[in-house]
Amino acid sequence: MTPLKHLSTSSSLETLQQKMAGTHLRELFAADKNRFERYSLEAAGLFLDYSKNLINDDVMSSLMKMAEEARLPEAIQAMFRGEKINYTEQRAVLHTALRNFGTDPVMVDGEDVMPKIRDTHERMKGITDSVHSGEWKGFTGKSIKHIVNIGIGGSYLGLKTAINALTPYHVAGLEHHYVANIDPNEITEVFRKIDPETTLFIVASKSFGTLETLQNAQAARAWMLEKGCAESDIRKHFVAISTNLKAIDEFGIAQENTLPLWDWVGGRYSLWSTIGLMVSLVVGFENFQKLLKGAWEMDKHFSEAPLEKNMPVILGMLGVWYQNYFGSESHAVISYDYFLRDFPGHLQQMDMESNGKQTREDGSRVDYQTGAVIWGGTGTNDQHAYHQLLHQGTRLIPVDFIAPATSHNPLGEQHPWLFANALAQSQAMMQGKNLDEVRDELTAAGMNTANVDALAPHKVIPGNRPNNMIVPEKITPERVGALVALYEQKVFVQGTLWQINSFDQWGVELGKVLGNRVYDRLKESGTTSDQDSSTNGLVNRFKQFNA
Ligand code: F6P
Repeated sequence: MTPLKHLSTSSSLETLQQKMAGTHLRELFAADKNRFERYSLEAAGLFLDYSKNLINDDVMSSLMKMAEEARLPEAIQAMFRGEKINYTEQRAVLHTALRNFGTDPVMVDGEDVMPKIRDTHERMKGITDSVHSGEWKGFTGKSIKHIVNIGIGGSYLGLKTAINALTPYHVAGLEHHYVANIDPNEITEVFRKIDPETTLFIVASKSFGTLETLQNAQAARAWMLEKGCAESDIRKHFVAISTNLKAIDEFGIAQENTLPLWDWVGGRYSLWSTIGLMVSLVVGFENFQKLLKGAWEMDKHFSEAPLEKNMPVILGMLGVWYQNYFGSESHAVISYDYFLRDFPGHLQQMDMESNGKQTREDGSRVDYQTGAVIWGGTGTNDQHAYHQLLHQGTRLIPVDFIAPATSHNPLGEQHPWLFANALAQSQAMMQGKNLDEVRDELTAAGMNTANVDALAPHKVIPGNRPNNMIVPEKITPERVGALVALYEQKVFVQGTLWQINSFDQWGVELGKVLGNRVYDRLKESGTTSDQDSSTNGLVNRFKQFNA
């Protein structure tokens, strides 16, 4: 347990935790017939049932008091107002402005950023229309049939999640591909599937300095030239998105094919920006706008609803409750929808790159746990993989289940079965199966007492495992937007409580710097001996096979 001792409200939560630790969720449900109504709410088209949590009214009210003591309401308003809450980089955090359909200005350094956001939307629409209408031609005069997004991290995960989530909305006749990794196998596989005459590459990089993206963009350019595209026609096959317009120019992408981005948009929060161009191309600009509108609905709810009726606040504070008062270390997100299969991967970057921190604004180190290990996948597949550990393992792992009420493909009875499985997992985690029930079951099946004694302990499922159920009516652009925004804001809530900056990522820098050094050692001739013995040994082994 690592309570947030810097907040005076923490002591009441410590006392409540001791009480709750001795209570079973079954008892809480038995004692209150209205538990579902009490602990559920709807916002931006998403329904949340959080009744299967280790909470009662005292816990929830203490958690909300803690959020107030941590000045969460003020922090929320500061973010929306464009204050430079990313204090280590002196930047505002305004991905919310990208999906703002209101009429009020949003000011950064004395400038209203809304007109330039609207302008980029027009340009994204223009590119999308031109590709869809066939007006955009490749070097042999053919229309575009393949789009390849070259980008990594926030310039990849969010847009791929949204595109796969919106599979039923894909425009016909356009194939989408992704190159993120520097592993040459990845881009080679994409080259095998595309046709140079009909391919448009989108180079998406906020910094335009990311090794993987630049190497892949160079490889794509070289491939186009090798396939007969003249240097002067390269502009017909490349679009670039970045804050670094100079670097794009040096790379050789035409200015008219360049979309801007701003430093007040964090990479992992950039789906809503020009980085979303690929989404617009694959599902159409109107659906991209609907995605933004869904996120805006969630933002309005987040900034206007009282804390106790605020979905991102509730989810964020429940995470704090388990991490800092029950000692849980990870959090699983399992979607019962094939189209949402990439969502956990996007959440991993969004949450772990945001809240995997240990230093407060004043430079002091936190003395409690911060960001949880985020993981997950899709049901029902995962029931046959790791759910065993969720049900009978020794760790407390809170789970969010995401299960849309209706399917885009209502094939026979499959969707009701899928939904039933989601509910059953949630219920099983909550109620479990106690020793008496197991013994009765085995005895009723005719087993003798000795065998019942031996087998029963193995079949006990403790239950009392907290979980949330998020139910959109259907996976539509608006609901996907709301869902992603819900988790973004949840991450912000937790970062505020943990007093860390959720918007920088200094931790990934060291690996990049050392990567350059190791690369130089791999390329130098002779034996390497100036690193630690492990690195020397492995570098020399690589050289042995790559002489
Ligand atoms: O992993 C570090 C990181 O900077 C992420 O924050 C970012 O999303 C990713 O690299 C890609 O960066 P860029 O869009 O600048 O290429």
